[in-house]
Amino acid sequence: MLKLPGLIDPHVHVREPGQTHKEDWDSATAAALAGGITMILAMPNTRPPIFDASTLDLALAAAKLKARCDYAQFLGAGPDNAEAVAKLASRAAGLKMYLDSTFGELRLDDMTLWMPHFEQYPKDFPIVLHSEARSMAAGLLFAAIYDRPVHIAHISLKEEVLLIKAAKERGIKVTCEVCPHHLFLTMPPPSPPPFSPKMGEGVRRTGGGWGRKEVRPRLAAQEDVDTLWANLDVIDCFATDHAPHTLPEKDSENPPPGFPGLETILPLLLTAVSESRLTIPTIIEKMHINPKHIFHLPDQPETWVEVDENASYEIRAADLHSRCGWTPFEGWQVKGRVRRVVLRGKEAYKDGEVLAKPGFGKNVRDD
Ligand code: DOR
Ligand code: ZN
Repeated sequence: MLKLPGLIDPHVHVREPGQTHKEDWDSATAAALAGGITMILAMPNTRPPIFDASTLDLALAAAKLKARCDYAQFLGAGPDNAEAVAKLASRAAGLKMYLDSTFGELRLDDMTLWMPHFEQYPKDFPIVLHSEARSMAAGLLFAAIYDRPVHIAHISLKEEVLLIKAAKERGIKVTCEVCPHHLFLTMPPPSPPPFSPKMGEGVRRTGGGWGRKEVRPRLAAQEDVDTLWANLDVIDCFATDHAPHTLPEKDSENPPPGFPGLETILPLLLTAVSESRLTIPTIIEKMHINPKHIFHLPDQPETWVEVDENASYEIRAADLHSRCGWTPFEGWQVKGRVRRVVLRGKEAYKDGEVLAKPGFGKNVRDD
């Protein structure tokens, strides 16, 4: 049995308030624990978005009642809330700025809208950018001009990872994360992942229409995927971007972008370990040490995850705890199963059953 520290996912769409038919604080944190994740940072593109004191209170009240694992809540940058969110920084995971198209209403098109946030948000709390390709380059320029750290969410492209590498070499304060779907899936054309024919079969069996492949950033080409794998040392964190939508929504005419991911990230990465494409210390670095450092997160005492490295099984949505009821990795054969999770001394998950109750989770930004 392999013992890992409590894993941290810095990018989770919990959907509460407002869209609890997709997920809520209870089901999202149950899914996290089942996936070996003991702390999540929640994104602000809810309904309403989390962008001031009263909406932050709304999200945190639901979390306090319902969360089973530890958490913090991001604030969203809007066109005129720079002063308000800066004042709330110590209560939040960080500030999320949507510079590109996304699900929800928080997009900031004009660069003059970015400036007050870079000027006012305290430098010791992170700014996370949803910024793709050239807007990511603009985000890096902002980090340089304002001399403050930025964390780039879900990088997916060769040009992104190479530019971040160059920026780091020149001392720009940038960190970044990559999601499993950008490491294991490509588009177009739908091609099997590079390392397992069985997994390739799984991709084809995912079924459904194009809506089930819709995600932002989009799935990229094989060359992008290969370049991410070749530059893992540039990538600071693995994050899920767990973005649940229901199957009827995904299969509708106007499918919202996003994949669930909390319960599949660790088995996918452990399968890559079993095929010598990754190491366990790299998983610990990118899912525990680095997110803790980047987001200034506290220790979780007496917290660990027990994994059976040799257990092989098939990913099936029917076994997952997320409310959305599907996974883009349906039918994939993986190696490495979470057996038991202990969170702050309490058995929180064991063999398919989430044991931590709603309300056990703590806001890590509370004093
Ligand atoms: O695919 C995505 N889904 N990308 C985003 O930026 C938002 C997310 C969501 O909230 O569904
Ligand atoms: Zn996201």
